[in-house]
Amino acid sequence: MSRRYSRITGTGSHLPPRRVTNADLVAELAARGIETSDDWIVERTGIRARHLAAPDVPASDLAVPAARAALAAAGREPGDIDLIIVATSTPDMVFPSTAAIVQHKLGMAGCPVFDVQAVCSGFVYALTVADALIANGTANRALVIGAEVFSRILDWSDRTTCVLFGDGAGAVVLEASDQPGILATDLHADGKYVDILCVPGGVSGGQVLGDPLLKMDGQAVFKLAVGVLDKAARAVLAKAGKTEADIDWLIPHQANLRIMQGTAKKLHLPLDKVIVTVHEHGNTSAASIPLALDHGVRSGQIQAGQTLLLEGVGGGFTWGAVLLNM
Ligand code: ACO
Repeated sequence: MSRRYSRITGTGSHLPPRRVTNADLVAELAARGIETSDDWIVERTGIRARHLAAPDVPASDLAVPAARAALAAAGREPGDIDLIIVATSTPDMVFPSTAAIVQHKLGMAGCPVFDVQAVCSGFVYALTVADALIANGTANRALVIGAEVFSRILDWSDRTTCVLFGDGAGAVVLEASDQPGILATDLHADGKYVDILCVPGGVSGGQVLGDPLLKMDGQAVFKLAVGVLDKAARAVLAKAGKTEADIDWLIPHQANLRIMQGTAKKLHLPLDKVIVTVHEHGNTSAASIPLALDHGVRSGQIQAGQTLLLEGVGGGFTWGAVLLNM
């Protein structure tokens, strides 16, 4: 009997309409007595603009149009879908899952839905889980979505973090296929690094306990990121029996242009084989990889049959990679 694989048949994305350039942000922060500059942000991160959701727009409202775009690209209707996984660290509610809210907003009912929380590695984790559930016959057609409103958990008085992030959503339709599709996956985590990137607060007794805003030791994250991404990339290549030379496009988590350059260099890939959207989106956490993927597909850069290496790294510390054929 031939093996069941999973294959991406459609991609979609959605950005909230409010585009905030570095110049806009510098002016807004200056009005609050916080000093930063376009030069500092561009030089350290490559970010030039980000999109920010209106205060009443939850992650599910970004996820739904991204999902609809992916469904349209795949030639599918919501009723064709039998699994929804949403990767998010900024869910609409403590519970139920954002995936349940997305399911209802898409007019669906009945299929299993859940969220995956692996911060900026969330989409790579969610895609790996969906691939496994399709391979073992639990699902035939999944919507895998990364959706975030990180603007809600930023400390807008902390210039070391608030300039880095944006809001958005990206989605794929992943379908059972007798051809791969997803070639190999590799996931990791190490909880001893909880403190270098976290939102330490929680909800208890009707109150927020602790600090509900993002804390990051940027240099510690930076130092870990390049090394673990390289290891994950090599692991998926080895599992699939491929080499660096087989990669048509690298789609890394879009946190920082310098991390992406470092990762590409270690893989001997020229920068023109890397899909880069961080300059326009900022760091959208779990949404960044599917946003970049959809951008690459819709801009005509990514073609059917090409081999893509997706890799994520983020809070947890979590990291992982997915190697796939489009
Ligand atoms: N504007 C101006 N100056 C600033 C700003 C700012 N926005 N932020 C910090 N500075 C200052 C600092 O105060 C410091 O000044 P000092 O030298 O007088 O003390 C100086 O700039 C340098 O600060 P560093 O923290 O050393 O800057 P660095 O070069 O490390 O860049 C950055 C910071 C961009 C955060 C970088 O460390 C980084 O990208 N880290 C990785 C982040 C990441 O990839 N996260 C991914 C996961 S995200 C997730 O999972 C949610």
